[in-house]
Amino acid sequence: MNVKDIVSRLTLQEKAALLSGSDFWHTEAVERLGLKSFMMCDGPNGLRKQVGEPDSLGVIDSISTVCYPTASALASSFDEEMMEELGQTLGDECVREDVSMLLGPGLNMKRSPVCGRNFEYYSEDPYLAGKLAAAFVRGVQSKGVLACPKHFAANNQEYRRMSGSSMVDERTLHEIYLTAFEMMVKESHPKSIMCSYNQLNGTFLSENKYMLTEVLKNKWGFDGFVVTDWGAGKDPVKGVEAGLDLVMPGPRKDHEEAIVAAVEAGNLDEAKVDKAVTNILDAFNWSLENAAKDAKPSDDDSRKRDYEVALRAAENSAVLLKNNRVLPIKKDKKVLFVGEFAKNPRNQGSGSSHINSAYVSNALECAKDRDVSFVRGYDLKDEKKNYILRQEAVEAAEDADVIVVFAGLPGSYESEGFDRKDINIPADQNKLINDLSMLDKKVVVVLHNGAPVAMPWIDKVDAVLDMFLSGDAVGEATVKILWGEVNPSGKLSETYPVKLSDNPSYLNFPGESGNPIYAEGIYIGYRYYEKKRMPVLFPFGHGLSYTEFEYMDLKIDKDDISEDETVTASVDVWNVGRYPGKEVVQLYVSDDASKASRPLKELKGFKKILLNPGEKKTVTFTLDKRSFAYYNDVLHDFHVESGDFTIMVGSSSKDIRLTTKIHVESKVEVPLDISLFTPVEDILGTKRGKEVLGPVIDEALKGQGEGAGDVMGEGADVMMRNMVMEMPLGGMASFGVATPEQLESIIQALK
Ligand code: BGC
Repeated sequence: MNVKDIVSRLTLQEKAALLSGSDFWHTEAVERLGLKSFMMCDGPNGLRKQVGEPDSLGVIDSISTVCYPTASALASSFDEEMMEELGQTLGDECVREDVSMLLGPGLNMKRSPVCGRNFEYYSEDPYLAGKLAAAFVRGVQSKGVLACPKHFAANNQEYRRMSGSSMVDERTLHEIYLTAFEMMVKESHPKSIMCSYNQLNGTFLSENKYMLTEVLKNKWGFDGFVVTDWGAGKDPVKGVEAGLDLVMPGPRKDHEEAIVAAVEAGNLDEAKVDKAVTNILDAFNWSLENAAKDAKPSDDDSRKRDYEVALRAAENSAVLLKNNRVLPIKKDKKVLFVGEFAKNPRNQGSGSSHINSAYVSNALECAKDRDVSFVRGYDLKDEKKNYILRQEAVEAAEDADVIVVFAGLPGSYESEGFDRKDINIPADQNKLINDLSMLDKKVVVVLHNGAPVAMPWIDKVDAVLDMFLSGDAVGEATVKILWGEVNPSGKLSETYPVKLSDNPSYLNFPGESGNPIYAEGIYIGYRYYEKKRMPVLFPFGHGLSYTEFEYMDLKIDKDDISEDETVTASVDVWNVGRYPGKEVVQLYVSDDASKASRPLKELKGFKKILLNPGEKKTVTFTLDKRSFAYYNDVLHDFHVESGDFTIMVGSSSKDIRLTTKIHVESKVEVPLDISLFTPVEDILGTKRGKEVLGPVIDEALKGQGEGAGDVMGEGADVMMRNMVMEMPLGGMASFGVATPEQLESIIQALK
């Protein structure tokens, strides 16, 4: 279709109508101009296409399809290729089902481990989340289907998500909460983006001009359309003014009328309405032109193929947290499976992402040709039965060589719409694991959880395999990993804290009246735990393998660069163990000395590679300005402080194997607004300040410390120097170092 032509022929009423949906899942059609209506559906861990009654909370059933691992599992794969393949698979399914836009991926940061929707989000690290989201979007859009990344932005809790205001400072916002969105927008060009329900610093995202227009569209070059989260539309005129394009769901006669009235009254420029309509139609037109036209509807064959993708994703995402030489289980061992989840695994979370799974594999069924018996261990609905079930488990364990306990979070513990109260699994499951670990047997715990859990029994069990909420193939993947047909290769995409109160957002989550102050600033996840040197249960990036990897020969092609140059780092990784296996090589950067407060380590590269025993590969990373930069709120941009940086390469954030140094020179000086209140040392930190004020200060300090020690004690010279350096420029007059007139001429010279 010719969008320009259509827009020129639409009436104002029709244009206003196009700015909200025709129903829960469709855009408006304009039949007289041959403009069809387009369908959008929830993802991202499967296609939730509703054909009957609609709802946004996954309560009413949708078409029967394949459920993939949820985002927190997928992120643990650290595998961009896999994410792209998954996106393609979902894109294909959308095309088969005549769906033009997939509502996902979700890439909000994990500020607290108890956000109810963390299972739908990737990470506490913006770089990891940004890279994975970009790969997923590329995959979906390669099929001519619009991706709709969500929820933009600072939507990091469920409590009062529709009304609360996230109070975030500028640096934290850009460096932590926007970076993943920025990377994803720049690297994958999504055709759409969903703004979140919440307010940011007092303005709803759907009316937030700074976020939607200045940052997203102007600064990052986003050229798709912005759609509201379902029901997040507020004042329609303010929305259009702010850069919002589509309000969902519809129909919203009231919005339509308000927009028409505002244009007619001269309160809203019709060109802005035209622009919003054009943004929406351009994106769907792109889909019309690029999606395959003759795709056959989904059937058993396509579902089988999709299940294979889900299986590979589940295998690739599982994280082996601990292993005292019990895994992989040897074929001749008698194994006891304990726990309801062995039979009915929790494969996904609840809410709008909930998929109507055609088939869910379970570990018990998949292990039927092995020497495995089963007891329930606990009842998820009726706690009164648990004492007896526990005794039964202890008795059944007599005969077993290895006990595998399937434990984790029931669906009622984590979901869209509410946050968790704590990070505990049900107390009866903890008791069960405890009792079984008292027997003289090997105990393995398999976890099903969308977010971190506490493990009070961690020192008593032999192994822990985290399967997360790993979609329909979860049971099959679990069995393959337990018996070593698949070597686990996932790494934690978020820190597992020892206890919830260790988390930096603890005192400000969910905030009074749902208005959280992000007081921890940039220090979320490992950025905080590392800086505080706090023990954690399992660190970011951690995950074991059945084989071992050695790291050798970390090299950089330049050791001194200017901020507009790139540097290539390379490292050799060698499989020195007995199994083929995949390793996630992680690269972190730290600023050795900086004026700005910086984390001790920040992830700036990762690569997943497959190595056979004895095989060695060279992994390379390209680092650019952003690898060394922080967000400077005077420049309103990312900035590198000149100096030395350490580049670290390793197998987790805690397991750094090799390091090297590089010097990076900045090309930008942060402007300083100089007045009588500006500290002397800040002025001396600028080139011009040093020239003008340097000689005055040198003169003032000359001989100042001499003799002072006699009256003021040891360290008097240091004290004098510090006093002068930290003093506001105006203070120099109070101490007779300079006259007010001299200070005024210094300020003039520095302007
Ligand atoms: C959720 C979105 C979802 C939408 C449509 C909302 O409640 O926050 O993630 O895409 O519903 O179901």
